[in-house]
Amino acid sequence: MPKWLNDAVFYEIYPQSFYDSNGDGIGDINGITEKLDYVKGLGCNAIWLNPVYDSPFMDAGYDVRNYKQVAARYGTNEDLVNLFNEAHKKGIKILLDLVPGHTSDTHPWFIEAKKAAKSEYSNRYIFTKSVWDAPPEYRMMCGICERNGNYMVNYFSSQPALNYGFYNITHPEWQLPCDHPDCLATVEAIKDIMRFWLDKGADGFRVDMADSLVKNDDEKIATAKIWRGVRDMLDAEYPEAAMVSEWCSPDRAIVNAGFHMDFYLDHQGNGYNTLFRSGEWGDKAVFNPNGKGNVKAFADEYLPAYERSKGCGYISFMTNNHDMPRVTAYLDKQAIKLVNAFIFTMPGVPFLYYGDEIGMRYQSDLVSKEGGFSRTGSRTPMQWNSGKNLGFSTGDEPYLPVDKNSDAPTVENQQNDEDSIYKVVTDMISLRHKYDDLKGNGELEFVYEDGKIPFFYKRGNLVMFFNPLGKESVINTNYNGEKIYELGCTEFSDGKVKMAPQSFVMIKV
Ligand code: GLC
Ligand code: CA
Repeated sequence: MPKWLNDAVFYEIYPQSFYDSNGDGIGDINGITEKLDYVKGLGCNAIWLNPVYDSPFMDAGYDVRNYKQVAARYGTNEDLVNLFNEAHKKGIKILLDLVPGHTSDTHPWFIEAKKAAKSEYSNRYIFTKSVWDAPPEYRMMCGICERNGNYMVNYFSSQPALNYGFYNITHPEWQLPCDHPDCLATVEAIKDIMRFWLDKGADGFRVDMADSLVKNDDEKIATAKIWRGVRDMLDAEYPEAAMVSEWCSPDRAIVNAGFHMDFYLDHQGNGYNTLFRSGEWGDKAVFNPNGKGNVKAFADEYLPAYERSKGCGYISFMTNNHDMPRVTAYLDKQAIKLVNAFIFTMPGVPFLYYGDEIGMRYQSDLVSKEGGFSRTGSRTPMQWNSGKNLGFSTGDEPYLPVDKNSDAPTVENQQNDEDSIYKVVTDMISLRHKYDDLKGNGELEFVYEDGKIPFFYKRGNLVMFFNPLGKESVINTNYNGEKIYELGCTEFSDGKVKMAPQSFVMIKV
């Protein structure tokens, strides 16, 4: 287990929208290198970079055409190596995004695979034996290539699924077992890509749709086995490298598959949503001041998973990512401050999505860009200052429009505002670095009463009390001590803490 993870705080950068260094309207790698001091100033010591590889951008780069080549619009492989080196000088690690489940349908492997002639790549993807064979339980593309067969897609139609085999074989005419040499070759191809970038200085990978490799693998047994093998490779060859999975199932991802971290966020809804998003635009979220949320639903889901996975790896809370509406779409400013106090004081390895630290808005009215659809509104350019395109680009056509409102938050105006989300985010991250009790593997004792919202948790000698409600609340507690941080007014006396509406306090006992 890489030691650095215990004190890691990640910053997720969507490269096309972060900073455009050459005025062509698209964020780029040199732009990120220029802004490393900004990232460091937040207290973040690690970055997750969304895909930067050559791609036709039908899914914003999650449709890879060449895993070993930086997309020209972002720069060159040398620029990326330079980013690794400059980041390392500042004590910042960089994880790339690994997309192992599928490629673009323009990837050379796929171009070969869809030809009628057999080749080394004929089994790299999943094809049926004939175009007349399209079992409805699979998502197939039919009748569009020379080869007589239909192929399975993993996400959008432009993303054919790579072939890692089937766990339960229901159509032996075309489904290969996982130990077929051609399926093992797919695993080796992915390891080869990992070694390529690790050798150039990458510090690991965020793994896209990590649970999607083996098909008909409901319990994810065979998929976990593949990742365990990848972890063994890292342990032997790159022991400082880290992997975080988009899986959202810590038992499977951390305990079985060997991921160092697993994101606590998904599309179907889990404890994460219970806290920050549930209901119609967050009206049933625990952090909504209306009090309709249920902290027990979160605790019942999270605590057992935390207990089982601690020691093996970290559950990663995130402020958001590039696939979900920003939290500003769900909660008010004071609630968002409490959300950040929570995310950066819980166990695990936290992730901050670019722009969330300044309270960027979700822009709901944008036309889809590069397969973003409803996600497009969370992928708009970073807002730096009051200049042209809010400092993102000197070009006339930015990748996406910046927030047009006159009160659009920017780094410049938020850094100068004592009452900003930015202040809370940076304060909380610096407390996390300061106190060992707040680190990834520190202890957690979570205390709540069924049906009631105010709650608190103890981590070593620090206790965090939260009153997300829009009214004053009292929590019975025997804990008392020095106040380390406070949002809203809180008062300790006679075995109670009286908390103002939407308040938070951290004490040292
Ligand atoms: C993951 C990515 C998402 C992408 C999809 C397909 O969910 O986060 O952005 O569209 O996988 O690769
Ligand atoms: Ca550019």
